[in-house]
Amino acid sequence: MSSDGLSLQYQGLLFPRETHSLESLEFAQEFKFRDDDIMAAVYPKSGTIWMQEILPLLLNGGDLTPIQTIPNWDRVPWLEEKRLAVIADTLTAPRAMVTHFPFRLMPPSFHASKAKVIYVMRNPKDILVSSYYFHQMAEFLDDPGTFDEFIEKFLDGKVMFGKWTDHVKGWRSAELGDRILFITYEEMCQDLPAALRQMSDFLGRNPSEDTIQKIAQHCTFKTMKTNRMSNFSLVTKQYMNLEKSPFLRKGVPGDWKNHFSSEQLARFTSAIRKELQSESFTLPYNLD
Ligand code: A3P
Repeated sequence: MSSDGLSLQYQGLLFPRETHSLESLEFAQEFKFRDDDIMAAVYPKSGTIWMQEILPLLLNGGDLTPIQTIPNWDRVPWLEEKRLAVIADTLTAPRAMVTHFPFRLMPPSFHASKAKVIYVMRNPKDILVSSYYFHQMAEFLDDPGTFDEFIEKFLDGKVMFGKWTDHVKGWRSAELGDRILFITYEEMCQDLPAALRQMSDFLGRNPSEDTIQKIAQHCTFKTMKTNRMSNFSLVTKQYMNLEKSPFLRKGVPGDWKNHFSSEQLARFTSAIRKELQSESFTLPYNLD
């Protein structure tokens, strides 16, 4: 391990020191997964907070108590963050967690368990834009530099949790059989009730149509923006400056069109294509 300024290096990846430590990363490695645990695996800026809203609602038949009384980071904690060691014992079964870990960093007990995973994927161009704003408002992250510079950092994997392409490759080729469900941020935006039905089937739940509609209503971008337990208004300005950019910023697919020049798009697209060219899976995105 080596650490430098705002980030910590572990297993070749960068982690924000504010929320991660060597101890927390080792705690994650030793964490004992149970068969009924549920995990959302998400590359940063692809819908993590959204899953922290959705999972407790799906797992508790639409009961609003968790999302209205527990901050997202304690309600569905990150496997790799410092906070997990503090609250792990308070989680009730079935435990729901999120992780930004690439598949190769999932702990041994995860592999030995039957814990289920929902992998949420988002168009990398929108991830880049979302991350660019996040780096400006999250005071615990490096300044992103110019948009051009940030594109290079992202493509080189010199951003938290490494290259997006490595994350996708690792999870897409994980041999988890029916323990894993792949879903996209864009599908969730297009038809949230349908995405919720897909997730609840996968989790072996059978909520009524009314419950699905109720959950969908409470998980819209607009509603989540007003939920103090999920919009990061509980954190200090020294941690996240929401005046620079709200955490729940735009919440739509395609904002990249407002940010990329045609040169940047060509550069980004060819770099991502090159990284994925020998893979057998196809992306659900048109990168052009
Ligand atoms: P934008 O910056 O494009 O708005 P993460 O939680 O992984 O950090 O991802 C954050 C991104 O997910 C932000 O994207 C945020 O607005 C978006 N998001 C969160 N909740 C959402 C919702 N209910 N509907 C649509 N987008 C949502």
